[in-house]
Parts: sequence; structure tokens; C-alpha cells
Amino acid sequence: MSSRHFLTLLDFSPEELKQLIQRASELRSMTRKGEIYEPFKNKVLGMIFEKSSTRTRVSFESAMIQSGGGAIFLSPRDTQLGRGEPVADSAKVLSRMVDIIMIRTFEHEKLETFARNSQVPVINALTDSYHPCQLLADMQTYQEHRGDIAGKTVSWIGDGNNMCHSYINAARQFDFNLSIACPAGFEPNAQLVDKNKDRITLFRDPREAVEQSDLVVTDVWASMGQESEQKNRANAFSNYQVNSQLMSLANQDALFMHCLPAHRGEEVSEELMEKPDSVVWDEAENRLHAQKALMEMLLGTWKP
Ligand code: CP
Ligand code: NVA
Repeated sequence: MSSRHFLTLLDFSPEELKQLIQRASELRSMTRKGEIYEPFKNKVLGMIFEKSSTRTRVSFESAMIQSGGGAIFLSPRDTQLGRGEPVADSAKVLSRMVDIIMIRTFEHEKLETFARNSQVPVINALTDSYHPCQLLADMQTYQEHRGDIAGKTVSWIGDGNNMCHSYINAARQFDFNLSIACPAGFEPNAQLVDKNKDRITLFRDPREAVEQSDLVVTDVWASMGQESEQKNRANAFSNYQVNSQLMSLANQDALFMHCLPAHRGEEVSEELMEKPDSVVWDEAENRLHAQKALMEMLLGTWKP
């Protein structure tokens, strides 16, 4: 079907992503000034959540309400999706009733199947493999605090998970170098690393990885769906906490980001969360503005 989707950062060109981030900052100041702007009047967003969420749900729902539209929250517990109705059928039906759809699910392939069968734009709101909406907010936040990220060095400390994969795509699209430190057995997808080896350096030691870094990022050690591995992972990752001591090895003006929710005392220390280096609250807020900009571009209500 002909709609444009946002399943990974590679679905937009580097130029479009730059424009999107710029637009997100404009929308942020408009929202903060209390300007009424309703480009999504009469538009409906379908929101399918097969995993928990606070930020993603509230940011998408608020984005629609503030922009004059509406959002419908759909969980497998009370829809036919949870009773085995095929993904393709659900996509065909829902996309005849709403204008845009976001999905948070497990397998990335499920999202791709949904998008192939949808008449309207589909947004990846997190799969086991990627979390591109978070990267829009992260890139916006970096730019608002420090300017262009192109040519900078970013360190990813911890699990080679969905967020790490999206950072790999971001390194290509936003033109930065990415240092990744993870324990043996928890590396990001080998094919993705191979495709982007000109931009990525893999480390075991987080202290080496953060050297000369402009941005240090981490995430939980056990993602949603990996709860039973929590204990094993806590052992494997015990030397991978991001704290002020580790941050002191990065560049002096390096920022710290975490997509949240954070596990204080595990992947991040309690004290770092509220230090001036940490921009996690701006990062969370920017989900709202970046996703407004994303939906404007997908719905064609704003053009650069
Ligand atoms: N960062 C993020 O996606 O948070 P939620 O799981 O609360 O949506
Ligand atoms: N890697 C985490 C991100 C949560 C926003 C997870 O998938 O659970």
C-alpha cells in the first residue's frame, strides 16, 4: 500500500530527519507559549500497545489532543488482536477507520506485516529490534543543548538492544561516531554492526568507550520481555553502570541520556540522574514535540 511509514530511522532521509528535529524544536516553543495549533483536527491516531508504556502513550495521546485530533488506545487484552485475529486483517480494518497508527510490539516483522497491510502511515513505537521515536527526541535534545551532533562521538554503554540498534541507525543518518561498550554475549545485531562498521567501534571496557565522548547513553539491562533474565543480566552488566565517575572520563561538556524508565543503582547511579550533565527530563518531554513533527510529516500537514 502506498502510505509512508516510520518503522526505522532509515525510512527518512538525513535531510528530512534534520528538518523534523528543527520543526520539533519550533513546536516545543509554540507549545510552551500556549499557542493553539490544531493541524490534526478530525484526525484519529490508533495506538496499539502489546507492551507497557508511560512516555510513549502519554506523548502520542497528548500530541493528538493538543493538535485538535484524537487517539484510541488499543491493548491486546481487550481487542481481537489478543485473541489471535491475524495482524494483516487488523491492519486492513483499522486503517479504514483511523488516519495514522502507532504500534509497540515484540517482533519487528509483525510491525512490518502490519505496515504492508495498512492504508495509512504506521509508526514504530518500539519493537524488540528498534525504538526510532526515542531517537528523534534524543537527537532534538542534543541539538537544543549542544548544537549539531554531526561529527561528534556518542557512547552507548550496556545492552546491544533495540535502543542501541536505533543509535546505530542514528549514527549513519545524523553523521556521528558511535562507541559501544557491552559485555560478551550482549552485543548488538552482528549484521547491523557490519553494515555500519565505518561509524562504530566496539569495546568491552566502558571507561575506554566514553573517552572523547560528547554524549553518553544507557538503557535498562533487561528490556521488556526479558524479565526472567534480570538476575543473570545484573551479574553480566555489573561493571557497566554509568555514574559521575564514568562521565568524568568523557569530554567535559558531555551530556547523559537515558530513554527511561531508569533503574537507579543498576545501569545508572542515583546521583547522576539529577546532575547538570543529565538531560533525561528534557529528553522525555521531547517525545511529545518530536512525535508531533513526525506525524505532521507523515500526514502531510506540514512540509519543510
Ligand atoms: N522511553 C519510553 O519509550 O518510555 P515508555 O516505555 O514509558 O513509553
Ligand atoms: N530497551 C527498553 C526500552 C524501554 C523504553 C525495552 O525495550 O524495554
